[in-house]
Parts: sequence; structure tokens; C-alpha cells
Amino acid sequence: MKRENLFAALEIGSSKIAASLSERKIDGDLEVLGFASEEFSGARGGRILNLETVAEIIRRIIGRVEMAAGIRCPPFRVSMSSAESRIERSNGIATVAGGRDQGSREVGLPDIKRVIEMANSVSLSRDEVILHSLPLRFLIDKVEVEEPLGAAGVRLEAEVCLVIHKISVLNSMKKVLLKAQVQIEDLTLQTLACAQGVLSEEEKKTGTLLVDIGGNISDYMVFSKGGVVTSGYIDLGSLYITKDLAYGLKTTLAHAEEIKKRFGSALILKSSAHEFITAPLVAYQQSTRVSKRLLAEIIEPRVKEILSLIKAKLDSSELDQRWLEGGIVFTGGGCMLLHIVDLAYDVFQRPARIGLPLRTTSVYKDFHSPRFAVLSGLSQLSALAYQYENPETPLDSLSEAEQLHRQQNIRSLSSHGSFSKMTSYLKNFFR
Ligand SMILES: Nc1ncnc2c1ncn2[C@@H]1O[C@H](COP(=O)(O)OP(=O)(O)O)[C@@H](O)[C@H]1O
Ligand SMILES: [Mg+2]
Repeated sequence: MKRENLFAALEIGSSKIAASLSERKIDGDLEVLGFASEEFSGARGGRILNLETVAEIIRRIIGRVEMAAGIRCPPFRVSMSSAESRIERSNGIATVAGGRDQGSREVGLPDIKRVIEMANSVSLSRDEVILHSLPLRFLIDKVEVEEPLGAAGVRLEAEVCLVIHKISVLNSMKKVLLKAQVQIEDLTLQTLACAQGVLSEEEKKTGTLLVDIGGNISDYMVFSKGGVVTSGYIDLGSLYITKDLAYGLKTTLAHAEEIKKRFGSALILKSSAHEFITAPLVAYQQSTRVSKRLLAEIIEPRVKEILSLIKAKLDSSELDQRWLEGGIVFTGGGCMLLHIVDLAYDVFQRPARIGLPLRTTSVYKDFHSPRFAVLSGLSQLSALAYQYENPETPLDSLSEAEQLHRQQNIRSLSSHGSFSKMTSYLKNFFR
């Protein structure tokens, strides 16, 4: 097992912390070697509240991952909540550095990095930093090219999508990771990791709304033509439904959570008024009988509220509503609620589906779930980033199996379009 084929991922969600260690197989897919997750309640709007507790959970989880995998984890790619981040588009222009033969200038990696740096020079407030710079389009001598690397020309232009984040939020993440003694490979916006985890290339191109419903937060991002169109979040997640259910049924949060997961539905119309469940009451240790229809009557308005708030945010952005051709893809534990896809159709008038981790195999049954879309995407991005940063190892110095491996990865890299060229400028920020 080679260390360069191992990728570690850590998600500090709004209600759980999860980590995984994956190995890249010869076909380019990832296999999860170790995986652990634990619930917690220490984050509000993307900020971590109780550093000490969170650091302790992180240490415990990583210990479990390493125990399961039987090896130590390499540095982690860690997800950042999209709360308090913003998106901006920008352009950069650079002259292709000439080689000895000025007549046949070829675009090299340094040229691409330079033009992206140019596009990154936007004005930021004092508490802001560029978390990601995602190239959307490259033009050489005013002609759009699919792959600029190695192309001939003089003037290189890049259009990028910048993800700008709050330094204070990143600093609190840095503090907790330091406390937990976690080595960082990089930080990645959660919704981007999610998209890498579950969206097909087709969906990123056609215009798709990705909605991640977590415990306390729901994040969304719209993709079109391989790039990000808009993104945002609302301060409500699936726990909002649990709280309402607990209130409505006069039961505890723990019971309401269990009832939501086992018997809840997001659609009143599809819930039977003749099937009953027993819910324990908080007081007097009594219980009550309620129909599944009644549960849905409490749940549906809450889910509708979450989806309608997202729709209202999209409506108020300058987005052209025709983008939604790819429909809606849900991730996060909150989307595991029965019939949420049907309700989404009612709200958005577009087809929806549940996003499951792609290109990832695992002996851990639980992993194959929309809850772990972020972890899966983080590892996939690490694998792509490694490939992009290390293209220069000559193929003939590798064994035959490794050559095949490398060629396949390069192929899959190029088919990932602009996502593979994702660059994070935070590496220096953390040194
Ligand atoms: N089977 C299920 N049905 C409905 N809701 C679920 C189910 N499983 C988990 N959830 C809900 O998902 C939420 C957690 O989602 P998750 O994506 O893990 O959160 P986060 O990443 O924000 O910490 C919880 O509120 C939980 O109630
Ligand atoms: Mg999450």
C-alpha cells in the first residue's frame, strides 16, 4: 500500500463529526479502509462553539478510523461549512511565457497558475480570504479551449469562480484542528466536496441544484456548465423537524428523532390515516397513539418551509430559472426522510433524486448514504489534486501496473473538467 494512494477526510458538520481513510484502487475508484462518525451539538452557523469538546471527539474519531484501517492517516482534507462564505466571478489575463522558440509558445502549468493568480486579485474585506479559485473557462488568443495545458498561443485568459470565506471562521477551524493535533492537507467548501461526491459530469453541466440538509443547517449550490452559479445556506436543518415533532407529540427529542426516522414522511397525501404508532409522552410515563398521517401533518409544513426558503433565495438571486434542467440532488441526513423527493417536485416543479457517494466502494454499509457524500467527495478531490500536482513523474520510471494506473487517472482527471483544476490558496495560510 503506497502512501500517495491514501486519502483522509474529515467533516465537522452541524450535528455530527465524521472521518474516513480511503485508498485509490488501480481503476481509479476509492475504497474506504476506515470510517467513523459521532453526533455532537457544538456548531452554530458554521462556527465551532466548544473547541475542547470538538477536539476531543475529532481525536476519538480519527483513532477509530486508524484502528479500523490498521494504518495511520495521512494529512486530512477538511470540509468548511458554506455559512459565511460568498461566491464571486472574475477574469485574469496573462502572456504565455515564451520558450526558446518564440514562434511556438506552449502553455505550461506556471502560466495557468499565473493567470489564475491574476483572476484572484479581487478586492476583499479585511476579514476575507479566497478559499477556492475554480477555473470555469480558458481562452487562448480569444478562442475557448477545453484544456489549456500544452496548447499553443500568446495570450491566456481565465474566467474563475472564487469562493471567498471569513478569516475568523477559518481561524476557529484552525484552532480546533491544532488542538486535536490533526494535520491538514487542505480545506474545502463542504458543498463543493458534496458535488464531487455525488454529481455526475452531466449534472454539473446541465444546471443542477444541490441541497445538503444537515442537522442544523441546509446548504445549497447551483452548478451549470461545469461551474458554480450561486450558493448559500439557511439556518434550518432536519433537527427543526425533530423539535416540532417533539412539541406536537409532547414527547422527548430522542423519541421524536426516532419516530421521524422510522415512521416520518414529508408528504401528507402519501401517509396513512389508518396506520398507528405509539409515542411515549414526556410526563407520567404514559404513551399516546398517533397515525402516520398526523406525523406527516407535522413534518410536511416544516420540510416545505426549508425548501421554500431555499427557493426564495434562488428567486431573489439573479439566476436564470432555466438552469434547473438537471433537477435537484439531495444529500445530508435530512434527505433520508421518506417522500422528500416528491415534496421537492411540488416546490420546485423539477425532478429530484437522492445523491449517494459515487466512485467509492466500502465494506461499511452505513457509508453508502447521502449523509457521507461530503466525506466521499473530500477524498475524491484529494485524489484529483494529487494527480494534478504531480503530473510530471515520467511514465517509464513506473512499473507496468503503475503506468496503467497513472494513465487511467489522468484520463479520469481530464474528464472531470474544471473541478480537477480546483486550486486552494489556503495552503500558505496554514503554514
Ligand atoms: N433516516 C433518516 N430519516 C430522516 N432524517 C434523518 C435520517 N437519518 C438522519 N436524519 C437526520 O439527519 C440529520 C443529520 O444530518 P447530517 O448530514 O449527518 O448532519 P450534519 O452534516 O449537518 O452534521 C439529523 O437531524 C437527523 O435527524
Ligand atoms: Mg453535513
